[in-house]
Amino acid sequence: MIILKSPQEIDRMRVPCRIVAEILELLRQEIRPGVTSLTLNDLAERETRKRGALPAFKGYSGYPYTLCCSLNDQVVHGMPSNRELAQGDILSIDFGVVYDGYYGDAAITVPLGEVSDSARRLIEVTEASLCNAVAAATPDNRLFDISHAVQSYVEARGFSVVREFVGHGIGKNLHESPQVPNFGLPGRGVKLKPGMVLAIEPMINERGPDVKVLKDGWTAITCDGGLSAHFEHTVAITEHGPDILTKL
Ligand code: CO
Repeated sequence: MIILKSPQEIDRMRVPCRIVAEILELLRQEIRPGVTSLTLNDLAERETRKRGALPAFKGYSGYPYTLCCSLNDQVVHGMPSNRELAQGDILSIDFGVVYDGYYGDAAITVPLGEVSDSARRLIEVTEASLCNAVAAATPDNRLFDISHAVQSYVEARGFSVVREFVGHGIGKNLHESPQVPNFGLPGRGVKLKPGMVLAIEPMINERGPDVKVLKDGWTAITCDGGLSAHFEHTVAITEHGPDILTKL
């Protein structure tokens, strides 16, 4: 069952979503060679609590951190670590908070200094595929029009779509119905309606689409060692079109 949100509820969701956007921007400015993702995690948790919010991921199914920090060939759910970030790395940061009973969720991928042409292109294409997907989140469309918007954009540019992880509805829960795959056929799936709020999150690989989860039970990596990028926004569907709640 998809829980529709009233305009008033969407207004309440703006608060956690703005907090997520602000803190991700702050983190982006802290990312440089020599910094560790654990430092970023601790900064994010402090800034979350300072704003009267709580980290959404910490404690979720036993996940122990505020951030997911997925480095290079890590796809999603990478754990913050003591390894110093280095020039040439790419780092995906996924972050959610809960405030006043509502969740916000977003992710960015950031290059450290000069990265390979392929890495830079992967990041650009992944972010642009999210824009393309958001543009499809209108009441004229169906759910998999969003999915197809990601897949067609990404595959036309030589990259591949991860199948094992998907976006999701969001509201009073971090994960609500429906699942939002990043692949699918246009014109299929449920009709999109004003009041749906979706976390749209393309996870895109440099080479093949296959991923596996490490023995830590969380970290997903590419099977072929290629890089992976991830961008996410929490988006409300309104009668006027998509409203990106996690945009500053
Ligand atoms: Co999400």
